[in-house]
Amino acid sequence: MTKTRRNRAWYGKLDKDGFIHRSWMKNQGFPDHVFDGRPVIGICNTWSEFTPCNSGLRELAEGVKRGVWEAGGFPVEFPVMSLGETQMKPTAMLFRNLLAMDVEESIRAYGMDGVVLLGGCDKTTPGQLMGAASVDLPTIVVSAGPMLNGKWKGRDIGSGTDVWKFSEAVRAGEMTLQDFMAAESGMSRSKGVCMTMGTASTMASLVEAMGMSLPLNAALPAVDSRRMALAHMTGGRIVGMVEEELKFSDVVTRASLENAILANAAVGGSTNAVVHLLAIAGRLGLDLSLDDFEIGSEVPLLVNCMPSGQYLMEDFAYAGGMPVVLKELASLLRPARTVLGGDISAYAEGAECYNDDVIRPFANPLKPASGVRVLRGNLAPDGAIIKPSAATAHLLEHEGEAYVFENIEDLKANIDREDLPVTPDTVLVLKGCGPKGYPGMPEVGNMPIPARLVKQGVRDMVRISDGRMSGTAFGTVVLHVSPEAQAGGPLALVKTGDRVRLSASQGALELLVDSAELDRRRAAWQPDPPHYTRGYAKLYVDHVMQADRGADLDFLVGQDTRPVTRESH
Ligand code: FES
Ligand code: MG
Repeated sequence: MTKTRRNRAWYGKLDKDGFIHRSWMKNQGFPDHVFDGRPVIGICNTWSEFTPCNSGLRELAEGVKRGVWEAGGFPVEFPVMSLGETQMKPTAMLFRNLLAMDVEESIRAYGMDGVVLLGGCDKTTPGQLMGAASVDLPTIVVSAGPMLNGKWKGRDIGSGTDVWKFSEAVRAGEMTLQDFMAAESGMSRSKGVCMTMGTASTMASLVEAMGMSLPLNAALPAVDSRRMALAHMTGGRIVGMVEEELKFSDVVTRASLENAILANAAVGGSTNAVVHLLAIAGRLGLDLSLDDFEIGSEVPLLVNCMPSGQYLMEDFAYAGGMPVVLKELASLLRPARTVLGGDISAYAEGAECYNDDVIRPFANPLKPASGVRVLRGNLAPDGAIIKPSAATAHLLEHEGEAYVFENIEDLKANIDREDLPVTPDTVLVLKGCGPKGYPGMPEVGNMPIPARLVKQGVRDMVRISDGRMSGTAFGTVVLHVSPEAQAGGPLALVKTGDRVRLSASQGALELLVDSAELDRRRAAWQPDPPHYTRGYAKLYVDHVMQADRGADLDFLVGQDTRPVTRESH
């Protein structure tokens, strides 16, 4: 006999409180026997019509329920805040921590024994993982799955990646506005998340590499019937996890986070994974730092998907998906438990690659070294990152004069000026896009190339900011500069004309201005007045930590696994 289940403190009481907890649930038609002590499984759903990427999660929740019932559990679905990356202003990232709070408090307050997280769009997966980590029940993930490949004029086009390409082509006069508008419908032609290796598919891939979902969860298309079957099987497995008392923290450990870092390099994953993994580690009390991401820097790029490669997630799924990647990485992966109870190596058993151009063998990679590089120097004392696989090789070692945009409005107003004093060697610097500054650290770090240079055929320049970039984006883009400008980081002191040096190979980001001059500038510097003076955004700005700490709120770090004993009536 296992120890008394958590749900008994709600549904096992023979007093007024037990009456209240059971009776009101019975208004949905549940019979007496579902309250007999069987595992209560919460299905935490981020479905929303404002989050089109997650619009298939209602059906998948039904699949999970079939599996829970079949395994002898009692499934109860509940909604949490949904974060639509493409729909929310000023940025969905501002609300990732709010979703995490919603998830955490919902799990803790309700009488569940285990939880299935249904997420997909960029911030929904990390927000759910962060919240669930702080409660530490048995937890498993079902992802929304990617959209079918985009199609336009007889060729495949990729979410995000081709938006950035097309919009630069329009600015260069190489694409008509009519064609640009026509591509919209072909790009997003089924339910599901971005079908490039953007942040959503990256996080789903890392969830699988961490052993937090069943194998194949990351890549199966949203509308593939096998995803519904996977949801069904996941529902069965969470009941087993409750019976085995296999908690979140038993699965996600330092070793599995390292596996996620290695996998992120191999799939050409998003830079956003850095802040999300750091935040998850913080919730679990695991000592993971920005420098730990260097373990990925020598891992070869195996998955040939946009933005680092040419294919899309549908191709990745049909080539064999994450189990094949984990098989190729077998010699590097740390031993780590999964939701199945065994080691992560089991995910690769029997995996077979059906297209070795889409998933390259370790011995014949797309690029020899792929992972995120961590940069430090007097311009980023607490670090910054760059994604070499999505950059232009010769710009990775570069020295040039800065052209500074003080904020996003400055950039929007001036980037297309014909007399903007920039050359292809200029280093574009954008301030005010960090967690506190924007606020919420938006995906604007891949700032557009100045119009006069785009027309000359320039498609990449060194760009530096305290913001993030979309996982679907590309370019020689230095991101997450910490501390950010608004927090008084040295980025705030850069002036147009200063020389800046980037060396990805040396991990260096230097402002070539002497320290006496920087001291003078610092003495004269003032932060911008805050954009928000009330509500959640004020709480966020007052408490958000810098990117090198995962941009979580300082008071959300860690766990609270104590039982809730007080009743509401
Ligand atoms: Fe939702 Fe890309 S915008 S997954
Ligand atoms: Mg994104």
